[in-house]
Amino acid sequence: MAKNPYYINIKDPEYWLFPTCGYNTDGTVSEEQRTIVMPEGMDRNFTFTDSLMRKAADLSPDTVFTHEHHAGYETFFVETGSMDFYINGKKTRVDAPRIIHMQPYQAHGFVFRDDVQFRGAFLDWNCADDSVATNILEQHYPDAKKDPKVFALLCENIDLHMRERSIFREVPVEDMVEVKDPARPAASFDLGGAVMKMLVARWEYGGKKELWCAEMQPGFSVAWEDYTPAQDLYYITKGKVRFKIYDEEFVAGQDSLVKIPKYASRSLVVEEEAVMYDIGGQTRWLALLEDLFSMRKYDPVRAADPAQIAALKKKFGCFVDKIDMK
Ligand SMILES: [Fe+2]
Repeated sequence: MAKNPYYINIKDPEYWLFPTCGYNTDGTVSEEQRTIVMPEGMDRNFTFTDSLMRKAADLSPDTVFTHEHHAGYETFFVETGSMDFYINGKKTRVDAPRIIHMQPYQAHGFVFRDDVQFRGAFLDWNCADDSVATNILEQHYPDAKKDPKVFALLCENIDLHMRERSIFREVPVEDMVEVKDPARPAASFDLGGAVMKMLVARWEYGGKKELWCAEMQPGFSVAWEDYTPAQDLYYITKGKVRFKIYDEEFVAGQDSLVKIPKYASRSLVVEEEAVMYDIGGQTRWLALLEDLFSMRKYDPVRAADPAQIAALKKKFGCFVDKIDMK
């Protein structure tokens, strides 16, 4: 596939920004990490990272120290493998595919039982910004992060605050509100050719975004309004989706991101049954879909009026012009 400015293949090292590693105290690698998209906009939204977390040598819960952030929201896609997740006095086992969502002041820790593909989408967190300076540091001192003193300094200089070892009770994963199962979404709406599923609600992001995925059938298409004034970032985990952004036409599949600048003309057609996450999450999808389905049920005359639908989309920040299923 020819390289274009809107397409990112997460698996291809050509797209990795500041590849680096995390280390265990014995100097072995604990994490292979790369930034994929840097923070953008007022809320440091759109930040996306890709990590291969290495299987832990020690699975003992006695060695798990937690940490917390005071501003940032972390959302992790657990794409492969299995891990133990500790948060606020609870522990559970997480088997892929799951999504973990954490809010500020929630003390959390992880123990990876396998090598886990672990992708992060962050809001309001400055970790990715620091990767610029850390990358330059490592060019000059390649072993800097293996030095516990330097590692502690790096943590202090981002919004990451260490806590003590966790005292926890073990709970079933279904009881852990911070673990989201794509098969059991918090809300779901069938649009005919696509099912929209809410994984993280807007109130879990301090009102700043919400996380949805669209499960789309082949032949489903979306066309957006001209000069759509929204930056968008779509993460595709399954299938094939053909995009047209300005004059660039390309197919995006599993393990890719599509990054669309503000004002760009855009459309998509699904070629193979696909799952796509709206990482930017600016549209108030829950309010829009709740009100649309309410209008269809209780006021079908208004629901059939294009002016009413246009007003509803404007109210909740949706710039989709039309959807179709062939
Ligand atoms: Fe964290």
